[in-house]
Amino acid sequence: MKPGNTPLVELPTMAPAGTRLYAKLEWHNPTGSIKDRAAWFMFHNAVRDGLVTPGMPLIEATSGNTGIGLARIAQVNGHPMRICLPDDSTAERMQILEAYGADLELVPGGPNGAIARAKELVEEGEGYMCYQYGNPGNPEAHEFGTALELIRDWELDAPPDGVFCAYGTGGTLTGVSRGVRKTWTDINIHSVEEFTTDPISGMRSQDDPFQPPVADLSLVTHRHEVTKAEAIDTVSRTVKEEGHFIGTSAGAILHAAQQHLEAEGGSAIAVLCDAGWKYLSGAPWKAT
Ligand SMILES: Cc1ncc(COP(=O)(O)O)c(C=O)c1O
Repeated sequence: MKPGNTPLVELPTMAPAGTRLYAKLEWHNPTGSIKDRAAWFMFHNAVRDGLVTPGMPLIEATSGNTGIGLARIAQVNGHPMRICLPDDSTAERMQILEAYGADLELVPGGPNGAIARAKELVEEGEGYMCYQYGNPGNPEAHEFGTALELIRDWELDAPPDGVFCAYGTGGTLTGVSRGVRKTWTDINIHSVEEFTTDPISGMRSQDDPFQPPVADLSLVTHRHEVTKAEAIDTVSRTVKEEGHFIGTSAGAILHAAQQHLEAEGGSAIAVLCDAGWKYLSGAPWKAT
């Protein structure tokens, strides 16, 4: 099953008065996240280019979602999958990866530690790494997928004023920006980021020493830093007010979008990366 064609829905109760807020619900992808799109493009580009041959092992460094997307594709196409992931990843994500048949290696040092270890394995000849941080297929998935769907499904007469994406590898931000600007030339591009001292799963800061080569930050018009507490609070509100149990990075994106709309008015799309199920054991969810 090919990823994509996820719903674009309005969040009327989350929008500040007089503004319009829409969300693209990316957990409606085959393994439940936006990263199914990048995994699909990177794998099929590698097969097309002869970089992955039948039965060849795949290696990836991931905080979870890309690995889950790749593990599904590897399993159904007969490739062993080795995943290096940060040793603080939630139990749910490890269990899901194992359910898709992946071989896990837990690495200290967060996402950057996982990247370093996966590169070592590739150098030792252990298999092919898609390397989402530098693979053009990652943003292409959004330029030729996500962005086109946003334009197709947008229901208002005037284009949206802005699109809000989390900054992790920069794949979504870069690809969505390139794609939507072909039609909505003046749209603002909002990068939603963690603070380096307050990590949020899947996200990054422009202050991090490692900036993924695949990210074109010159496309960004606005930068928003969100605390994990603000993100979790917005998750709780979204569950309560709209009935969507969103993931933590999605909470950060919606928080930033709400703050911006409150100050500036207008309309916005928030690209929400995943749902909250995978974070149950790792976040202090509030029932209120
Ligand atoms: C939950 C979550 N949010 C946000 C992102 C960031 O997306 P991107 O890598 O396209 O920047 C990721 C990436 O892995 C993610 O898993």
